[in-house]
Amino acid sequence: MMKRIAVLTSGGDAPGMNAAIRSVVRCGLERGWEVFGVNHGYSGLVSGNFRNMGARDVGGIIQQGGTILGSARCPEFQTEDGRRKALRELNQEGIEALVVIGGNGSQTGANALNSMGFPVVGVASTIDNDLVGSQITLGVDTALNIALEAIDRLKVTASSHQRAFLVEVMGRNCGYLALMAGIAGGAEAVVIPEIDTPPEALADEIQLSYERGKAHAIIVVAEGSHYNAAGLAAYFKEHNEELGFGLRVTTLGHVQRGGMPGAYDRLLGTRLAARAVDEIAKGNTGVLCGVLLGDIGTTPYAEVVGKTKAIDPALFELARVLSY
Ligand code: F6P
Repeated sequence: MMKRIAVLTSGGDAPGMNAAIRSVVRCGLERGWEVFGVNHGYSGLVSGNFRNMGARDVGGIIQQGGTILGSARCPEFQTEDGRRKALRELNQEGIEALVVIGGNGSQTGANALNSMGFPVVGVASTIDNDLVGSQITLGVDTALNIALEAIDRLKVTASSHQRAFLVEVMGRNCGYLALMAGIAGGAEAVVIPEIDTPPEALADEIQLSYERGKAHAIIVVAEGSHYNAAGLAAYFKEHNEELGFGLRVTTLGHVQRGGMPGAYDRLLGTRLAARAVDEIAKGNTGVLCGVLLGDIGTTPYAEVVGKTKAIDPALFELARVLSY
C-alpha cells in the first residue's frame, strides 16, 4: 500500500547520518512510498518545513559527514504545545510515519510523539554512545577514530617535550568515548564521569608515569567528568601538584563530530535506517533500531527513554592495567 513517510535528524549531528537518510529514502521509494525530509530536526517539524525526496536528492551523500537535512535542538518540541503543532503539520502533509535519527533527547521526543498516536521509529544515532537499545550508536566509530588521530599526534609532540596532555573528548555525561579512546590510544590515565578520580590521585598517577621513565603522559578526560580538562589543569596549578612532566590541555570538542563517516558508520547508518523502514512496513512502530548482540534489532521506546547506558567498570580497570 502506498504510504507517505518522513525522516528527520535531530540533536548533535553524527557521522553516518547521511547514510541513514539515503537509506530511508531509497528503501522507502523501493516500496513505492513517498518520502519527505524534515529540515532542521524538530524545529522543521513544528514549522512544517518538509521537502519531498527522490533518489537523486540523496546521491553522493553517503561519504559526507553532518546531515543534509540539518539538525537542531528544539525546546519548543519539548512542550505539549510544540508537539501538537508538529502533529498538525504532519497530518496536513498526509505523512503517516516518521523516522527519527538521533540520540537520547531526540528519541525521548520521538517517544512523546509516538505516545500521542503518531507512528515513529527511531535510529540510534549519537557519538556519545549513551543510548539504551544499541550497543554501539551511529557516529561513535568515526568520532573515536578522530579522537585517536588527535591522541596519536599529541603523543608525538608530548614525547618531544616530556609533557603530559589532558585531552578532553566529548560524550556529554557519558565516559564511553573517553574510555575507549584511552584504551585504543594507549593513554596513561582516563577520567570519566561514572568513576570518581580525585585530582590528587590523578596527579600521583602522572608523577608515577614520569618516574617509570615514560616520555609523555596522555590523560583522556571526558567532558562531563567532575573536573574537565581545564578544571584539572587549574586544580593542579592551584595545589602546586608535582607531575614531573610539563602540562598542556587540548580540547577536541566538535572536531570529533565533523568527520567523514568511516566504513563502519556508513554501513551502520544504512542498515539501521533500512530496518526502520521495514518496521514501519510491518506496523511495528514506537521502537528504536539499534545494534543488539552484533545484529540490528529493535527495542520498544518504553525500555529506552529516560535511561543512560552504563559503562563497563572492567574496561576502566583494563585501561589502568594497560597504562603501565
Ligand atoms: O550529544 C552529542 C554532543 O556532541 C555531546 O557529546 C556534547 O556534549 C554535545 O553534543 C554538544 O552539543 P552542541 O553541539 O549543541 O554544542
